[in-house]
Amino acid sequence: MLTALQTPNQGSLRFAVLAVLCCIWASGAGTVHAQSDQSFPGDPIAGRRIFVARGCDRCHAIWGNGGTLGPDFALVGAGRSLQQLAGMFWNHTPQMIQTVQVKGFQWPTFSEEELADIISYIYYVKLFDEPGDPVLGERWFREMRCVECHAVGGEGGRTALPLDGYAQYIAPLMLATGMWNHGSGMQARQAAERGPIPSFRGREMADIQAYIREVSNLQSRDVIFLQPPDPNTGRGLYLRKGCSSCHGPNGGGTRFGPDLRSATSQLRVSEIAGTLWNHSSQMATAMRARGIAFPRFAGKEMADVIAFLYYLRFYDTGGDARVGEVVFAQKGCASCHAVDGGASIGPDLSQSDAILAPIRLATAMWNHAPAMYAVIQLEQADWPRFEGAEMRDLAVYLSDMAAGK
Ligand code: HEC
Ligand code: HEC
Ligand code: HEC
Ligand code: HEC
Repeated sequence: MLTALQTPNQGSLRFAVLAVLCCIWASGAGTVHAQSDQSFPGDPIAGRRIFVARGCDRCHAIWGNGGTLGPDFALVGAGRSLQQLAGMFWNHTPQMIQTVQVKGFQWPTFSEEELADIISYIYYVKLFDEPGDPVLGERWFREMRCVECHAVGGEGGRTALPLDGYAQYIAPLMLATGMWNHGSGMQARQAAERGPIPSFRGREMADIQAYIREVSNLQSRDVIFLQPPDPNTGRGLYLRKGCSSCHGPNGGGTRFGPDLRSATSQLRVSEIAGTLWNHSSQMATAMRARGIAFPRFAGKEMADVIAFLYYLRFYDTGGDARVGEVVFAQKGCASCHAVDGGASIGPDLSQSDAILAPIRLATAMWNHAPAMYAVIQLEQADWPRFEGAEMRDLAVYLSDMAAGK
């Protein structure tokens, strides 16, 4: 996610983001195909291509790049799951149908895989931070007393190595990796000097990174490109580095470590990096107690693990079939769709393949939306909208029917 921003200038946000997207786009890395329970559905990089190819960017922007009729996906709320996003996607079909009709476009239909990709992309873009603020960064660098031990741009303490080299990066991921890997030595020194162990809130780590970029005496200001973080690679690392032995394989928490789904659900990269650091000393103690070696990260491994943590909320689990049955009735689905072989306006959904998987259901609904819309207009009914977990519950209700439960 690191970009070719040549000047450490805050105002170049648009630039940075463009470069982020180009870098994601060009790299083609980070495939996240839905092959098994072991991976998240959808490939955000493929989703980016579809987003443009299907004209979504005519109305939607990412960090201000793109159309303005619809919301900017970098700004609308983080932490929404696959099915919540599918529900929101569905909610605005009437608006799109009208636009498509007025402009004479074709209705953009999707394969299941494409819809998963595009939703994954919408989710993924919120992972990225805006670059931090170097002025604030200077302040944190002093207040957290980094300056007493580390120099940047020739100024600061000599207890530890200068941090100028980190200016090659834009996001604070490598800084976080360095701090994590050297954490025990650093924390020992901080304890010995009776200084506090710094703790990061919000975007403070991103701000310090921006400050290092601004004042570093690094000769070459070329930026090192990292591949975009990949949640599925991150899942493998999370297991291999032993995180799962305390937090469980799906981040749900065990008696040895807290639930990471709720801890990280609303956070972006630099915030998750800060959280990891904040807890690193406690975790190191817990690891010693259990005889687990402290895991270190190389290259973009930490970025991948952070992407994995960020994706924990993407994939819905659970759902309540009885609530789903109520949703099916209340949204008016039942008035057009039989589920018992009876006659109805729309197809009998108990006989439809669409109900076998949530993303398949969302795809079928989307692809048939113009036809449903025509009938709904004739009947003067309201377009059914989904909020919260309704889509998930509906999918469970319908798929249980397929399973004959
Ligand atoms: C003609 C303009 C237009 C196009 C093209 C368009 N959208 Fe939208 N979209 C909107 C508007 C307007 C809204 C907000 C109004 C609403 O929610 O009904 C919206 C809302 C959304 C939302 C819900 C966002 C939220 O936070 O509420 C999603 C998801 C979405 N669009 C996805 C897409 C995708 C994916 C595409 C491409 C296949 C697309 N849109 C194409 C206009 C458009
Ligand atoms: C009390 C002194 C002290 C303070 C305060 C301190 N550090 Fe350190 N830091 C160290 C020491 C000592 C090491 C090397 C530890 C080792 O390798 O065992 C280190 C290592 C690091 C590294 C890894 C450097 C490398 O060579 O890759 C980073 C990054 C870092 N510190 C960032 C920070 C930041 C950011 C702050 C402020 C939030 C900070 N440090 C505050 C003493 C300190
Ligand atoms: C030996 C057990 C153990 C291992 C292994 C472990 N953790 Fe933890 N983790 C903990 C404990 C205990 C806490 C709570 C520490 C605290 O309260 O500061 C924690 C806290 C966290 C938090 C902060 C959660 C919050 O509530 O904000 C994150 C994020 C996290 N761990 C991620 C990881 C990752 C990623 C790995 C693998 C690199 C890992 N942990 C490995 C035990 C462990
Ligand atoms: C006003 C009538 C009407 C309402 C209300 C309605 N639908 Fe439909 N639905 C249709 C029609 C008609 C079709 C067939 C469209 C076509 O042939 O392209 C259809 C098609 C579908 C399909 C595709 C089935 C397949 O086998 O490919 C699914 C899935 C679906 N609807 C789900 C729903 C859900 C869920 C609701 C409630 C949120 C709903 N529909 C509400 C009329 C309706």
